[in-house]
Amino acid sequence: MDAISAFSTYEREALEAIESADSVDTLEAVRIEFLGKKKGRLRDLQKLLGQVDPAERPVVGQRFNEVKNRVGERLDERKNQLDRPEESSLTGLDITLPGTPVRLGRRHPLTQTIDEFKDIMGRFGFTVADGPEIEDDFHNFVALNIPEDHPARDPLENFYLAAASIANDRQALLRSQTSTVQIRVMEQTKPPIRIVSVGRVYRPDTIDATHSCMFHQMEGLMVGDSVTMAELKTVLHLFATTYLGEDVQIRFRPSFFPFTEPSVEVDMNWHGNWIELGGAGMVDPNVLTAVGYDPEQVSGFAFGLGIERFCMRRHHITDIRRFIENDVQFLSQF
Ligand code: DAH
Repeated sequence: MDAISAFSTYEREALEAIESADSVDTLEAVRIEFLGKKKGRLRDLQKLLGQVDPAERPVVGQRFNEVKNRVGERLDERKNQLDRPEESSLTGLDITLPGTPVRLGRRHPLTQTIDEFKDIMGRFGFTVADGPEIEDDFHNFVALNIPEDHPARDPLENFYLAAASIANDRQALLRSQTSTVQIRVMEQTKPPIRIVSVGRVYRPDTIDATHSCMFHQMEGLMVGDSVTMAELKTVLHLFATTYLGEDVQIRFRPSFFPFTEPSVEVDMNWHGNWIELGGAGMVDPNVLTAVGYDPEQVSGFAFGLGIERFCMRRHHITDIRRFIENDVQFLSQF
């Protein structure tokens, strides 16, 4: 038998024996038989190699090494399998493979902004209140002094829920403003009050770079026995300055909201530009009466700011639609 075919026979028999070894001990016996230094069959092959014609030795030698390495590798692999029987029996799970690194997720930029807003207002003594997103027309309009024929109540300006009415004949709708929470809080709490409420509001606006049918507002309400407009301006100034990390100017422009008197639009000057933040004012006596307060005894201020606008300014985001596209490349930048 020539050397090459002896190598092949050896290889085939060794691999078969390795495969059928079913314990570490039998595998060790196989190792001694085929690779053992003293009497193993490899020694016989080595002798055979010594006898081949010197001209053929490179080729035959290469085959010898190949067979030797193959048998050695397969022995090691089988040994690993037999060493961990319970793991190898879990089909499809190879715990020896390298792990896939898990990339940490992060909070949505709007959520980050909201958390920061709540944190800042918390430092000024404002606690967080929540209200439902499915509201009724009493809290969204009536108690806020918005009369029946006011354009804000138009079906084209709101998401009224079809044929839905909550108890007491109240028409249900997706809230169009967070001012609803002012009412809910005052109905249930006696003054003094200092709250903010942050959440989604809904309006059937045509969607473009600056409008969305769903966006977020932060509502603020402070009621006490002598709350003034100067405090309103101070709170808004401190808030904007804290959020943006540098001194910003706050400007009030006369305006009208049914639930405040007087009412203002709030602008802030940041990096040389006036930016509209939202509305504010002193809580209208009719609203205080609607929730059972005595307007002769208490006064208050309220404000409502758009969250997206702040966040877009701060991060130089130019399209509001980015917030809801769920594009990971965009979101992972914040
Ligand atoms: N709710 C108003 C809106 O959505 C914003 C607003 C204006 C809220 C004045 C207030 C306020 O609390 O006092 O346009």
